[in-house]
Amino acid sequence: MYGIVNRAIEELIIEKFGIDKWEQVKTKAGFDSEGFMTLKPYPDALTFKLVGAASEILNVPADTLLEAFGEYWILYTAEKGYGEMLNLAGDSFPSFLKNLNMLHGRVTNLMPELAPPQFECRNEKENSIELIYRSHRNGMIPMLYGLIKGLAKRFEKEVEITELESSVEENTTVIFLLTWS
Ligand code: HEM
Repeated sequence: MYGIVNRAIEELIIEKFGIDKWEQVKTKAGFDSEGFMTLKPYPDALTFKLVGAASEILNVPADTLLEAFGEYWILYTAEKGYGEMLNLAGDSFPSFLKNLNMLHGRVTNLMPELAPPQFECRNEKENSIELIYRSHRNGMIPMLYGLIKGLAKRFEKEVEITELESSVEENTTVIFLLTWS
C-alpha cells in the first residue's frame, strides 16, 4: 500500500500513545528507515506487520486498531491535502458511498499503482443502502467499519452496519446493509 497509509498509522499511534510506543512498534515490525514516503508503494505485508506489532506493543486487538484507523483516515485525508477530493465525492452519506470508486479513481492520478477495493451500491432506500465491498486483500474488514462510521459522522449521521453476506477466500467480498438516522 502507498506510504500515506503507513504514515497515517504512524501519526495515529504517536497522537494516541506517544512517540516511544511508535519507536517500539517500528522496531518490532522490522522497519528501520526514518519514515514513509507518502507517494511510494510499500508491500502490503509491511502495513500488516505494523498493525500486528502495534497490537502487541499497545495491547489492543488488531481489529480494534484497524477500526480506529478507518475512522481516523476520513479526518486524516481531509487534513492532508485530500479535502477537496472528499468534498467532490458527495454532499450526503449515500451519494458519497456511490462515488467511492470515482474517489479512488481520482487518487489513482497521484498514485498510479493504487490497488483500491471496488464498491457497489444497491437497494437504496430513504435511510438505508446495501454496500458491496470487493478487495483482493484479506483482513481489511474492521477498517471498513471505521471508514463507514467516520463517513457517517462527516454527514452527522449515526450508522448501523450489518453484514448480509461475506466471502473471504483469495479475495474478499462483503455485502453490508447500512442503516442511518
Ligand atoms: C481522499 C480520500 C482517500 C484516499 C486518498 C484513499 C487512498 C487509499 C490508499 C492509498 C489506499 C491503499 C491501497 C493501495 O495503496 O494500493 C486505500 C485503501 C483503501 N481505501 Fe481508500 N482512500 C480514500 C478514501 C476512502 C474512503 C472514503 C473509503 C471507504 C469508505 C476508502 C476505502 C478504502 C479501503 C477499505 C482500503 C483498504 C484496501 C482494501 O480494502 O483492499 N478509501 N485508499
